[in-house]
Amino acid sequence: MTSRSTTIASLLASSPVVLAPMEDVSDAAFRRVCRGFGAELCVTEFIRAEQMIAGAQIARRKATLAEDDRPTAIQIYGADADLLMEAAEVAAAARPAFIDINCGCWLPRVARGGAGAGWLRDPAAMVAMARRVVDAVDVPVTVKTRIGWGPESEMPIVELAPRLEDAGVAGLTIHCRTAQAGHTGDADWRWAQRAQAVVSIPVVVNGDVGSAADVVRALAETGCAGVMIGRAAIQHPWIFREARALLDRRPPPPPPTDAERVAVYRALLAANVAARGEKHGVEVTRRHVPLLGPMLATALRSQIHLSRTCSQVEQVLDGSAQLLGHSRTGVQAK
Ligand SMILES: Cc1cc2nc3c(=O)[nH]c(=O)nc-3n(C[C@H](O)[C@H](O)[C@H](O)COP(=O)(O)O)c2cc1C
Repeated sequence: MTSRSTTIASLLASSPVVLAPMEDVSDAAFRRVCRGFGAELCVTEFIRAEQMIAGAQIARRKATLAEDDRPTAIQIYGADADLLMEAAEVAAAARPAFIDINCGCWLPRVARGGAGAGWLRDPAAMVAMARRVVDAVDVPVTVKTRIGWGPESEMPIVELAPRLEDAGVAGLTIHCRTAQAGHTGDADWRWAQRAQAVVSIPVVVNGDVGSAADVVRALAETGCAGVMIGRAAIQHPWIFREARALLDRRPPPPPPTDAERVAVYRALLAANVAARGEKHGVEVTRRHVPLLGPMLATALRSQIHLSRTCSQVEQVLDGSAQLLGHSRTGVQAK
């Protein structure tokens, strides 16, 4: 292990459950919520290298890390090693916990041109690119990738992981699906276990971790240094406090009340409106409707989606109190 991988290992030792980078989701507002529930280590949404270098407004928003938003890694993506090096230099100025290179995004708009999972089609180029980015900055550099492009029978990740370690990469996150699988099929954590077994840098297992019990099982089955949670955190950001309690062998925390769910939605709304203005803030907060829970989300989704202003959303949320009162009466009456 190098001092850079030791840094990542010690971050994961104190907080092994990481909030995944998710475009349009894992922004500063959502990181604050998840960190409040115990996701001490977070990763930004991916930032396109060209936009990072140009200082585009979207890149600046994504890469701005407040002092209480640390440790957070900045994730960059691109198809060109020179541009990724330059983008990493810009990212390093924000003093992230580390810089993560996205080599796992399967979306055609990203991978077709060679960025994201596109690097998996040429592992030698990916390793050379990673080495250059590592050499360009003095913060640790990690790679988030998939087990292979697909449909290989032996996934290249097991052979690739030691080569990335040799290149100076300080840690790996492995989404245990092929690029071709997208989000279909089941994530196979055994590939993360096999990769962790052949490297001394920390590996974070990712894919289909849906509950606190899954967190414990993923760590135990793979021997990985950490677990990354994406979609389950959108549905239920409380997963981090539930996982923390289970890992610490404490009794499970009580499930969130409906009032707590509404309070979290309000907090996200306020933060997003402050960061992006009313119109955009109201819009982007809609993606967090699932955290209201099945009952409230079903009842309020269409009204929230029709709301254009903050006060309209607040009115809908105020109405939820009445709705809950009615539903509780209904339950009691049965
Ligand atoms: C809405 C959404 C946006 C995502 N954006 C990114 C991203 O910006 N960078 C990245 O590396 N992965 C991204 N991912 C992939 C997740 O980080 C994660 O690897 C994947 O969802 C599998 O984990 P999960 O089963 O816990 O969701 C995204 C996933 C979702 C659902």
